[in-house]
Amino acid sequence: MKKVLVSGVQSSGRLHIGNYFGAIKQNVELGNSGEYDSYIFIADYHSMTTLTDAKERIENTFDAACTYLACGLDPSKVALFKQSDVPSHTELTWILSTVTPMPMLMLAHAFKDNEAKNKDINAGLFTYPVLMASDILMYNAHVVPVGKDQEQHIEIAREIAGKFNRAYEEVFTMPHAYIVKDVATIPGIDGTKMSKSKGNTISLFGTDEEIKKQVMSIVTDSARPEDKKNPDESAVYQIHKLFLTKEQDAVLRKKFEDGGYGYKEAKEHCAEAIIAFVSPMREKYNYYRSHPDEVYAVLNAGAQQAESRAKEMMNRVRHVTGLVS
Ligand code: TYM
Repeated sequence: MKKVLVSGVQSSGRLHIGNYFGAIKQNVELGNSGEYDSYIFIADYHSMTTLTDAKERIENTFDAACTYLACGLDPSKVALFKQSDVPSHTELTWILSTVTPMPMLMLAHAFKDNEAKNKDINAGLFTYPVLMASDILMYNAHVVPVGKDQEQHIEIAREIAGKFNRAYEEVFTMPHAYIVKDVATIPGIDGTKMSKSKGNTISLFGTDEEIKKQVMSIVTDSARPEDKKNPDESAVYQIHKLFLTKEQDAVLRKKFEDGGYGYKEAKEHCAEAIIAFVSPMREKYNYYRSHPDEVYAVLNAGAQQAESRAKEMMNRVRHVTGLVS
């Protein structure tokens, strides 16, 4: 039997290059390899914890599907679906929540960060890691390719799987995070982790003008063009290198280290590299955006595949918990 791969992105905003390098690229490469039974979904239930605009959710979900297809996801090898098309994710969430220790959720980053900011926290945001555990455990995932910020959630999923297995029967497989070290946390234009909620992103499929504008506003220090610069402390370098081969990267590093390479020029080169890289994918993206029927057909077929697997799991779970005899 093939191992199972599960991953997802929230439909809470437009996807950015952090999502691409941290997760989507690995999702597509591993999914298309055919080595796994792959389930990739657009987490619209998750997006409800922060977004209450229905139209925006529909648009973001469609946009994320176009993005995955434009990035090369092969729907004959990967079930690509919308999370809420498989509503048993929420039923399993309830069942798992009854074996989830509350203190563990209180230590989750998303909750702690928002609490520290005194933000209004809804119960959905608090129990978010349980929904994520349900997404993963539903398919008995072995491998979950994600960025570093999701590592804790996968630890929580393992913990919950163990609790359930001990309380009832060995139903769930232990999932493992698959995180590529070099791209585990992509910085945003302000130098901190790129994140939809922080407004510090470079859009994956923005227009050339949007990309240039975002790149030109990457934070820099006050070094003059002639000064030597430490590439490892520069967000411009960190972002630009994502688009380079090893050899090109070595050349860029040297330019920073030697001095005589001003930030304005460095940013212009960075924007050019991004635009050259995304252009062919952006053409595909524009194609899918103008062919919604094709996109929805992929999502519907993916949902059917996921649903049949979820049904088997829910039968088992209902049985071992005594919800059915
Ligand atoms: P989300 O939508 O915030 O992000 C989607 C994926 O992109 C990765 N990512 C990054 N990687 C590197 N650097 C960054 N700056 C960066 N920003 C985002 C994230 O780590 C993630 O892999 N809870 C998840 C969605 C989800 C999920 C799941 C994922 C729901 N259920 C089950 C895996 C399995 C989230 O909010 O990701």
